[in-house]
Amino acid sequence: MDVTPSASIAASAPAGGLLRVMTCGSVDDGKSTLIGRLLHDTKTVFDDQISQLKLDSARHGTTGTAMDMALLVDGLEAEREQGITIDVAYRFVTTARRRLIIADSPGHEQYTRNMATAASTADVAVVLIDARRGVLVQTRRHSFIASLMGIRHVVLAVNKMDLMDFSRDVFERIVADYREAVASGGFASIDAVPIVARDGDNVTAPSARMPWYVGDHLLGLLETIAPETEATTGPWRLPVQWVSRPDASFRGYAGTIAAGAVAVGDAVATSGSGPGSGHVSRVARIVTMDGDLPRAAAGDAVTLVLDHEIDASRGDVLAAAENPVEVSDQFAAHVVWLATAPLQVGREYLLKLGARTVPASVTSIRHRIDVNTRQKLPATQLALNDVARIHLSTSVPLAWMAYRDSRDLGGFIVIDRQSNATAGVGMIDYALTRAANLVWHELALDRYARAGAMGQRPLVVWFTGLSGSGKSTIANLLDKKLHALGRRTYVLDGDNVRHGLNRDLGFTETDRVENIRRVSEVAALMADAGLVVIVAFISPYRAERDAARARLPAGEFIEVFVDTPLEDCEARDPKGLYAKARAGLIPNFTGISAPYEPPLAPELHLRSDGLAPEASAELVAAHIAHLEQRPGAPA
Ligand code: ADX
Repeated sequence: MDVTPSASIAASAPAGGLLRVMTCGSVDDGKSTLIGRLLHDTKTVFDDQISQLKLDSARHGTTGTAMDMALLVDGLEAEREQGITIDVAYRFVTTARRRLIIADSPGHEQYTRNMATAASTADVAVVLIDARRGVLVQTRRHSFIASLMGIRHVVLAVNKMDLMDFSRDVFERIVADYREAVASGGFASIDAVPIVARDGDNVTAPSARMPWYVGDHLLGLLETIAPETEATTGPWRLPVQWVSRPDASFRGYAGTIAAGAVAVGDAVATSGSGPGSGHVSRVARIVTMDGDLPRAAAGDAVTLVLDHEIDASRGDVLAAAENPVEVSDQFAAHVVWLATAPLQVGREYLLKLGARTVPASVTSIRHRIDVNTRQKLPATQLALNDVARIHLSTSVPLAWMAYRDSRDLGGFIVIDRQSNATAGVGMIDYALTRAANLVWHELALDRYARAGAMGQRPLVVWFTGLSGSGKSTIANLLDKKLHALGRRTYVLDGDNVRHGLNRDLGFTETDRVENIRRVSEVAALMADAGLVVIVAFISPYRAERDAARARLPAGEFIEVFVDTPLEDCEARDPKGLYAKARAGLIPNFTGISAPYEPPLAPELHLRSDGLAPEASAELVAAHIAHLEQRPGAPA
């Protein structure tokens, strides 16, 4: 989206600044009562919210009537784009001193998902504790997720003090317990206040019933906490959201400053992975809706105009030239898994970091973390609501920062390629390699030169289908036919490869994902060597077949679906495996106790109806011959 300079907007903070608050606790702890109390006692001013909404909507290209409440909470944008429904309500409170956005996530169902969403943008967590019950496992869990998502301030609200005779001892014991429980939480501040949410004691006014408490009431604490905004010291970074080009005379880079502060005259470098990266220019203007600024800092939405053109586009990061942003494709990160389908190591997902979305996969799960005890546990896959330390690898290098330094450039979401839904949220801890050190060797001889020397084109013919469907038989017949035509071929077959390269793998989903990942790598390498590679694996998951396809240039991957119905495969049962599987002797047997996801758009769909293997192989060979004659095909 292009925006004219006059329409871009600087985030205008009200006096005291904006504070994003999340509440942790359940209905039993009095959460709804407390929020209701806060809203009621502050007589929330609506005009201000409405005008802010108008500003934000303009910034997002929607006009007047199409205002969207969720726009106030920009951390949700990614999820909204993915169409995920998250059960978090946002309440807006304006006092004379400050504007508060309170995220209210239900504590019960899918608590981790909702909490993680609310926490990803919050500055402060209000942790509610029922004075009668003290610090509970759920208190620890909520605090852990809050600290994981980068919240640095906690206000402990010890509620229902009336039921404990307003006892100072009870309050102090709970506060001490809490401090001990979160000792390693890394919070910059923990304040505590004894309240009775129902009656309003210490919510927005001091309580006559607890004269021993001399601290500020809850609202007062929230009004005075100084949130650690994104580092405004350190070198500055601006992830480019869009390039603004209203006419030939103006070109600006628009986005929200993710870290540091930039001033007119500063030298600028781009992270861009394309040609021209590393090119230095200077900031000529910092344009905002309120006019030009001499300087802008983290959190400000600005449009930078440079003194001469550099090659940067949406997704690139502009940065201080003397301290350019780091780029890497291997990361150590924390992830919170939000999908019902487990996270599979090796499976290709999409990763959205800043304004870039790229294919990525988890290379290993270092450990899962028990959110109740913080114990590190071994794990081979991750289930809904699991939290883990992982290593991940992206298909292209990305400009990044540690999450603790920038939520914008250190926080990412994981998207499932099949459903296009958000499957997880993550936080980068550090990079495992610097991409600059790892240069893909540009080989002097390319795949077409190698294939050309054999008078052919590189190709992968991928057979998929149930066990006993006839994949291997057809693959071998095809191999003979192509060989007779002078093609240099090779067959990769499940049963054979599983005896060697993949002898360490079984038939769980995790192992099959890895089985197919390795085979697709081998197939891609062989195609790169110029061969015609014939692959025959059940390959039951679409995600892995799609990833295999993505490893090859367009037109060099032919997916052949050997669509023999389960009844027929079972009736044939060449290896007697179906009988054993039915008898419960083989677990995870495809078609019986493990899924098979049929291809949605295979290049060839071989239905079994009366077609002999020989005829099937002939069909595939004819398809290949047809491809080879296509005009423009590399010789
Ligand atoms: S895949 O699912 O990971 O692609 P692959 O093609 O390598 O499977 O191996 C399938 C072959 O392994 C089958 O043809 C069969 O001979 C054998 N096999 C042993 N156990 C199983 C099982 N649980 N499910 C399917 N095939 C199995």
